[in-house]
Amino acid sequence: MASRQAKPQRLINGRFPSVPFWMRALALTFISLSLLVAAGVLRSRGAMMHEPRVHFVQDMDNQVKLKTQHKTDVFADGRASRPQVPGTVAMGQLNADDHLFRGFTATWNVQQNKYDSTFLDGIPVKVDEALLKRGQLRFNTYCMPCHGYTGQGVGPVAARADKLQRDGVAGMLWTAPSNLTDELRRGRPDGHIYNTIVNGIRNMGPYGASIQNPTDRWAIVAYVRALQVSAPVAKPAAATPQAAVN
Ligand code: HEC
Repeated sequence: MASRQAKPQRLINGRFPSVPFWMRALALTFISLSLLVAAGVLRSRGAMMHEPRVHFVQDMDNQVKLKTQHKTDVFADGRASRPQVPGTVAMGQLNADDHLFRGFTATWNVQQNKYDSTFLDGIPVKVDEALLKRGQLRFNTYCMPCHGYTGQGVGPVAARADKLQRDGVAGMLWTAPSNLTDELRRGRPDGHIYNTIVNGIRNMGPYGASIQNPTDRWAIVAYVRALQVSAPVAKPAAATPQAAVN
């Protein structure tokens, strides 16, 4: 041992002596182990798992929050979803233009404790060929099934309901869709038709949620007017007792 240690380092065949085997083995083991750790971390970042991922930098990815319909002790009523604050309007939802967004004006009548409303005439968007084409498309999608392509009240749904009623199917209570081209509907203010689309009328349901864009609704009003111009003037239909009342 002593004699080996005493040997001075020297070149063997012009090279330094190679690193001992145990050192190389140890280095290789360390490198492999560190790679294993890295591989494990990468796997936990990318693989499909049922537990939340390993998340080294939290940022704001995980935080305490209240989800829809959950309970909370923060508010007295225990609801996590908060109602609108009275007297406030969400950004972009002011919709201050009565004519464009509602088709009527309403003022509070203090004496009678109710709103006085007036339907407005005129279509508050530019009526051109493109608008009428858009109205035709929307009408044929949302209104035609009941009112028919010509608006005279004989769409496929109406025809089928008529047939079921004629066949005496139990529980069939059907109000015929109005003829949109009769005298009464010709005389309605534009805003009245607009409001019928948005909120429905009598036995007709509302379509405001399906047709949300006010321009689309006015396009339908314009198209209904076009149908009226192109149709023969008819007396209000008296096919069913309900329709006669309309
Ligand atoms: C599911 C069938 C159905 C659909 C779809 C439908 N309507 Fe109607 N509509 C009716 C019925 C039924 C009435 C008559 C209601 C009553 O008299 O109780 C009516 C009545 C009307 C009237 C007459 C209101 C008045 O002034 O007396 C208008 C205008 C009208 N609909 C427009 C539309 C438009 C525009 C659409 C498409 C956005 C549409 N409807 C979609 C069934 C429908």
